[in-house]
Amino acid sequence: MSEALRTTVAGLDFQNPVLLASGTAGYGRELSGVVDLDRIGGFVTKAVSPEARHGNAAPRGWDFDGGMINAVGLANPGLAAVRTEALPWIAAHVQRARVLVNVVGHTMEDYGEVVAGLDATPGFQGYELNVSCPNTKKGGLEFGADPESLRDLVSRARAATAKPLFVKLSPTLPDVVGTVRVAIESGATGVTLFNTLPGLVVDTETRQPVLGFGSGGVSGPALLPVAALAVRRVTQALPGVPVIGTGGVSSADHVLQLVLAGASLVALGTASMAAPRAAERIVRDLARWCEAHGVSRLADLRGALEWPS
Ligand SMILES: Cc1cc2nc3c(=O)[nH]c(=O)nc-3n(C[C@H](O)[C@H](O)[C@H](O)COP(=O)(O)O)c2cc1C
Repeated sequence: MSEALRTTVAGLDFQNPVLLASGTAGYGRELSGVVDLDRIGGFVTKAVSPEARHGNAAPRGWDFDGGMINAVGLANPGLAAVRTEALPWIAAHVQRARVLVNVVGHTMEDYGEVVAGLDATPGFQGYELNVSCPNTKKGGLEFGADPESLRDLVSRARAATAKPLFVKLSPTLPDVVGTVRVAIESGATGVTLFNTLPGLVVDTETRQPVLGFGSGGVSGPALLPVAALAVRRVTQALPGVPVIGTGGVSSADHVLQLVLAGASLVALGTASMAAPRAAERIVRDLARWCEAHGVSRLADLRGALEWPS
């Protein structure tokens, strides 16, 4: 493993900055026959909610020219099963990769409940709070779009753990820097930029949405520049806040773009669904790139983008 890729983020030691994004790596076990999890920096688990969720009607995912759209509906086995089955498997089988548990809820209380319910279980080092979903007590307004809800939600999670907390935001927020500020002031350690972008793909023959749920979240190539700009803005305005850059990453060059923009870690989702070993390939390519460019520590390039004056 290349020493040039090693990095410390939020007090955690990562052997490299390449993660698998939530929802595309299951709870590790699902990928373990195909991906050597201990070669990547880490992975973010699929969502965990207090109760099991069955998810949305099929089709749940659809490829289109610009990437992919999905409405999986945050299907997951629920807190109890993750505690007794998924995390013990990770604890027994994943040694070097870092693991963040992705948390989701219908209410603010749900987030605190999941964090409190998992915190003492071995197998993971931190959390990612998915706040880009509807708050059922506020008429479906996204948690992350409402500073008051966001403050309450993050504070509840923080009260239940001393572990790092990353807050994962939607690319549709009108003021991403302001939202990140609220999250950090409420106890978040860092943020993930971004989740999917809301969208609709229509089947013109049936005149229906291609997805069983109707609308969905767009992911893939076009999100990379969107994430890069937000990473840049957030890390310029709030230096020291660790950012997991996410969106459209499928190569070492894409990881470098996000690191230069200011990301501390980079996660890929859609690309690794198409090619499960993409993250391992990216790690190898990054190591080669560092060697070829005489870079002894990739983390030194964080935020080193030269902006036109
Ligand atoms: C099939 C699928 C399932 C996803 N499930 C989750 C999830 O459970 N929780 C979450 O926070 N993000 C989820 N995401 C969003 C990804 O983690 C990521 O933020 C997004 O896809 C953008 O990255 P990408 O362009 O590399 O896919 C999911 C994405 C996809 C494609």
